[in-house]
Amino acid sequence: MAAVRALLAFLLLFSSSTVPSLSDKEGETLLKFKESLKNADALSSWQQGSQVCKTWAGVVCINGIITGLRLSDMGLSGEINIDALESIRSIRTLSFVNNSFSGPMPEFNRLGPIKSLLLSKNQFSGEIPADFFSRMLSLKKIWLSENNFTGNIPASLGQLPYLMELHIEGNQFSGLIPKIKEDKLVSADFSNNNLTGPIPDGLSKFGAKYFAGNDGLCGKEVGKECADKGELIASAVLDETKPSKVERSSLGNVVWILGGILTLGIVIIVLLSTRQRHDDFRVLEKEKAGEPVDANLPVTKRDASSKKGSSVTSKKGSQHGKGSAGDLVVVNEEKGSFGMADLMKAAAEVLGNGSLGSAYKAVMANGLSVVVKRMKEMNALAKDGFDAEMRRFGRIRHPNILTPLAYHYRREEKLMVSEYIPKGSLLYVLHGDQGIRHAELSWPTRFKIILGVARGLGFLHSEFSSLDLPHGNLKSSNVLLGEEYEPLLSDYALQPLMSSPEAMQAMSAYRAPESSEGISPKCDVYCLGIVILEILTGKFPSQYLRSGKGGTDVVEWVQSAISEEKEEEIIDPAIMTSKESVSQMVRLIHIGASCTQSDPEARVDLKEAIRSIEEVHV
Ligand SMILES: *[C@@H]1O[C@H](CO)[C@@H](O)[C@H](O)[C@H]1NC(C)=O
Ligand SMILES: *[C@@H]1O[C@H](CO)[C@@H](O)[C@H](O)[C@H]1NC(C)=O
Ligand SMILES: *[C@@H]1O[C@H](CO)[C@@H](O)[C@H](O)[C@H]1NC(C)=O
Repeated sequence: MAAVRALLAFLLLFSSSTVPSLSDKEGETLLKFKESLKNADALSSWQQGSQVCKTWAGVVCINGIITGLRLSDMGLSGEINIDALESIRSIRTLSFVNNSFSGPMPEFNRLGPIKSLLLSKNQFSGEIPADFFSRMLSLKKIWLSENNFTGNIPASLGQLPYLMELHIEGNQFSGLIPKIKEDKLVSADFSNNNLTGPIPDGLSKFGAKYFAGNDGLCGKEVGKECADKGELIASAVLDETKPSKVERSSLGNVVWILGGILTLGIVIIVLLSTRQRHDDFRVLEKEKAGEPVDANLPVTKRDASSKKGSSVTSKKGSQHGKGSAGDLVVVNEEKGSFGMADLMKAAAEVLGNGSLGSAYKAVMANGLSVVVKRMKEMNALAKDGFDAEMRRFGRIRHPNILTPLAYHYRREEKLMVSEYIPKGSLLYVLHGDQGIRHAELSWPTRFKIILGVARGLGFLHSEFSSLDLPHGNLKSSNVLLGEEYEPLLSDYALQPLMSSPEAMQAMSAYRAPESSEGISPKCDVYCLGIVILEILTGKFPSQYLRSGKGGTDVVEWVQSAISEEKEEEIIDPAIMTSKESVSQMVRLIHIGASCTQSDPEARVDLKEAIRSIEEVHV
């Protein structure tokens, strides 16, 4: 046996010394790689003419093919020549553990087939772009520990299908831990960073010590309760006066409750016939109590109420178009005309329940999808006044304004119908799905959204110039994103309709610091500033929560960054991929800051803000 092995070894040695192998040709490439290294004494065995796979330190070969470099503990520094590594196509593993490399993350992502990338114990620093790992789908091991990396953990790490080891301990990563595919993950360490927010579900199998040293993390693993991001968003959308009520809600089941499909007819019938309200309609009772709607109507009751629905439909349906009680008045015919009967037959989904009322999505037989909003506390105007306001809304045409389609008026109940916008709101795209979706929002897209929001607001300020609050409720959940991410403002100019001071207080304009002294169009400018800072930082503003607890106080954060001239550090790492645009982002941070000045006198004028934004060309 030993003799056979010796013979084999001899044959291998013999053959590789007569015929120059591929690895020896690639030796030249490795020497090029070595050239840009400093303190490379440990690589003195790398000599032209010697056998790479036999004699070169740290070169890992399998059957004479170079499959990796294991250059740990060698005191190396200097540049890592990625071009050279890229041209050795058989490389699958790289270890640079415990050396003295520094500077930003080298472009290892050009080495697509890499399975193992070990960079621990160096002095790499700076942020890693969110999409850095998106093409490195073979990665099984990533060690970035004990470096000086900052910024968010790149979201693309979460999508790696074969990831088994993830070590990022001992850096200065901040922000949320992204959702990470954990089915193959056998070890992970997040300790000693600057991470915040909840520990994602799948990661709780790793014990507390792997999360230690991150003061902002919460979850049962670290013995600190947290309001998760879903709740933050939910409470921002809901503007709940009693935040405890949304404790069990998550982003999935409040912002876009897609689970419960019911016939909108049922909802409308019940809305139209409050006097006949049945105890069985627990769903609506709950809604009255201000809790998220859950649409678990028992089937038998659904059938019964549908029958009731059809009788009402036939009674009222004939009066369609005359604006009588129980009917729908179309104020904008761009999407065609429809009546209550069409809505009654539509399949509906509950979207959410906000301060200004609950919302349902309905898909009508002609294919048009609409959102039906039930408007609470909109009783300030009598029927004629309400009708005039709604018709005025219906005439609005601006590329950044969502024009409603129809309304329904009864003394106790008002419904507003608008087109359903599939991409959803800016709030959802920026913060939903644990931040994965916000990678969609490139810098040019974000600039376009900022510009569109500002122009839409400018339009409202001239169209409704007589109002104290021409918009009144500007926030990212009221900025819908069209097909090409063009922003569409919704829920504007409602203040004159509102009958209760409490409902008014729930509007975002009342987050402006001077609102307790008095409101003015400058409150809208404050809200614009919050949206701008939210888009640039990618952070969820604490200003959206009435309690002010949770999220990031973007106003304060930005002001301190400006005073320390560290604006670049607060920009969302996901858009920091191109250096050219950073100066534009910094200019916008200053514009956002001037919109959020707490003294309304010192706060920039809307026209001036729009002009400054327009001057930042992308
Ligand atoms: C790191 O590398 C140096 C040589 O550069 C070595 O002396 C030291 O022991 C190594 N440290 C560890 C923890 O292996
Ligand atoms: C890492 O970053 C910290 C804070 O920015 C700095 O004090 C420290 O010197 C850095 N360490 C290295 C090795 O670059
Ligand atoms: C941690 O992050 C916060 C902001 O989230 C920042 O103010 C602080 O300086 C960071 N600490 C370190 C050590 O990087």
